[in-house]
Amino acid sequence: MTLDFKVADLSLAEAGRHQIRLAEHEMPGLMALRREFGESQPLAGARIAGSLHMTVQTAVLIETLTALGAEVRWASCNIFSTQDEAAAAVVVGQGTVEEPAGVPVFAWKNESLEEYWWATSQILQWPNGEPNMILDDGGDATMLVHKGAEFEAAGAVPAAPTEDDVDYSHEYTVVLDVLRASLAEDPQRWTRIAASIQGVTEETTTGVHRLYQLAEQGKLLFPAINVNDSVTKSKFDNKYGIRHSLPDGLNRATDVLIGGKVAVVCGYGDVGKGAAEALRGQGARVIVTEIDPICALQAVMDGYQVANLESVLAQGDIFITTTGNKDVIMAHHMQAMKHQAIVGNIGHFDNEIDIAGLARTPGVVKVEIKPQVHEWVFDQGTERQRSIIMLSEGRLLNLGNATGHPSFVMSNSFANQTIAQIELFTKHGQTREDGSPEYDRQVYVLPKILDEKVARLHLDALGVELTELSKSQAEYLDVDVAGPYKPDHYRY
Ligand code: NAI
Repeated sequence: MTLDFKVADLSLAEAGRHQIRLAEHEMPGLMALRREFGESQPLAGARIAGSLHMTVQTAVLIETLTALGAEVRWASCNIFSTQDEAAAAVVVGQGTVEEPAGVPVFAWKNESLEEYWWATSQILQWPNGEPNMILDDGGDATMLVHKGAEFEAAGAVPAAPTEDDVDYSHEYTVVLDVLRASLAEDPQRWTRIAASIQGVTEETTTGVHRLYQLAEQGKLLFPAINVNDSVTKSKFDNKYGIRHSLPDGLNRATDVLIGGKVAVVCGYGDVGKGAAEALRGQGARVIVTEIDPICALQAVMDGYQVANLESVLAQGDIFITTTGNKDVIMAHHMQAMKHQAIVGNIGHFDNEIDIAGLARTPGVVKVEIKPQVHEWVFDQGTERQRSIIMLSEGRLLNLGNATGHPSFVMSNSFANQTIAQIELFTKHGQTREDGSPEYDRQVYVLPKILDEKVARLHLDALGVELTELSKSQAEYLDVDVAGPYKPDHYRY
């Protein structure tokens, strides 16, 4: 059967393959899992619908999943984040540009919202049956299945989003259009897909938040593993990944000198901590905004000024949102900023920055400097004329303006993803000693011993000499010599 796919340009495959080859060397966790599970093929029979930034690192993840026996279809989870050469290389696989033989990918850089949701629906519609696993980043694929099944049960798709729905996804009108067309074509499609899905593994804070909401409301249709809260994910990718890829995005977008500037970081969670450290490392004076007293106290103890956004609007040269919240930088904030202040978001969705409000500002003019870099000019032609520079139209700038996190840190995240897929797929339908399901319609995190395993897989490459507990030391601490070393409530 010919491969169905949609990418920008298959002739980029060779360039993509070179990058994938180099990335494999920097992804020891994924390569170790290929060696450990290549023969036993624990994912044989898994049909994984993947929605996660289609980068070079994700290509190594996809090819790890297939090396473990899975069939895969893939889309990006953001309109700007695809690396076209990586997408092409994954499609071509072991085949040729003329006869591709890899994985069906539906992703290209700079998709429209309509194209994005079309691509997301393509990973869930298999030519021969249904998918049985989802690998998600931000929860869009999971949301499509849940909403599709909900509307099929109700027999209709609502004419317009409600207030609650808009909070759930501000792109929801497009989602409703996709589902309306789908319902007209096949009134049972999403019900069938939902029934066939054995589980979802979710990559990021924002997607995990959506899953816990569904579980609390009793609406989660299948078990979920929260990959984000593996320590080797959120305390590494969200922090050290951002520490690398935020300055990368800023530099590729603007090439403005960060040293000496005032940078305002909204949010001091894991991502905010990495962002603030990176900007300080470049010589910026960093100001943090927070709503959580614990994180505010952490920020001030780390040596950052903590202030309200309103009080520092005229000081900041660079503003970065990292909150995973909505309405953090509003149009009136941007109007009060310095001339050519740089504004960007690195949280999952673009609703942290009020782009819609900016576009509605009377007299505002949007000038494209280059793709994903726009100058918004206020009061053009008057003596008050000034502008701000918006990166990636408010979408995550490390993936829109640069290429996301580097391979080594993503090897940690994706080793967790792979292990989580194996867990949910191989333990589907199994019961515990007390007769309860191994994985119910709840949200789980991986056991700590597997988290420690992921870390272990990355030590050799960095020349780490790990101290071994003696038996008597282990007894003294009341842990096993082989781990886990910390109780579940321990905070790293
Ligand atoms: P987190 O929950 O650890 O941190 C967010 C922080 O923002 C919290 O401390 C919270 O108190 C604070 N906050 C919330 N509303 C605020 C407001 N109005 N003003 C100031 N502070 C506010 O979450 P984490 O893990 O840091 O993730 C943040 C976002 O980044 C999420 O959307 C996540 O999905 C995304 N993410 C993006 C990555 C990327 O590559 N661009 C990588 C990892 C996560």
